[in-house]
Amino acid sequence: MSQNNTKIINWDSIFSFSNTFQNNSPCKWAFIEEFFDREFYEKLYNTFPKENVMERVSAVDKDSLRTLWGNDSDGSFPTDSHDSRFSDSWNEFHHYLFNDEFINNMQKFSGVSVNKLKHFSMKLSRKGDYQSPHIHNSGPSTVIFMIYFTKNWNDGEPGGTYITPEEDESKRIFEPYNLDNTAIVFQDGPHAGHGVRPLLEGTERHAIQIYLEGYSAETGWSSKPVVRELREL
Ligand SMILES: [Fe+2]
Repeated sequence: MSQNNTKIINWDSIFSFSNTFQNNSPCKWAFIEEFFDREFYEKLYNTFPKENVMERVSAVDKDSLRTLWGNDSDGSFPTDSHDSRFSDSWNEFHHYLFNDEFINNMQKFSGVSVNKLKHFSMKLSRKGDYQSPHIHNSGPSTVIFMIYFTKNWNDGEPGGTYITPEEDESKRIFEPYNLDNTAIVFQDGPHAGHGVRPLLEGTERHAIQIYLEGYSAETGWSSKPVVRELREL
């Protein structure tokens, strides 16, 4: 039996997808079911931030509502801070992202030398919100998570982040079919294409985005400097 903190993250479930992630193509990727401990998840689900703390992010290739944590801003990196706008559970989870156990387990799960949280944001998406298919290919050690907090999602409904080998939506090989305590996780690379088809009327998707990456005090982050907007919808 593991000695991991399983009150927050469902580590048994995550590790059960480790082989899938590490052996998948065209990049390392997996769709994880029951990402959080179910009881903890329901607390996060019930206190997911409302629209009044979100700001609209619109660009030529994307459109969605988003909020960052604490005093984080675009271009800055996440800090381990309390944010009183959000519930105790959200603060507990956010704090855990800076815990060695979380980082070490994600390194073990992914087989990628990630060691630090590089980005954290919360998203609220509705009818028409989308992100065009794209590939970052910005470095060797970046793992991107989209984690969902949306019940009653229908299989085949657009709105989850799909995986595609090219910057072409029609070539997608997987699209999340269940957004209730699930996560799509992929490693950045030359074939790690992804995007979001426009949401349908009457649907609302709640999600968070996390980037883990390699970092050293001497050489900085393992990815190249940002040359285009990299953040997900
Ligand atoms: Fe992206």
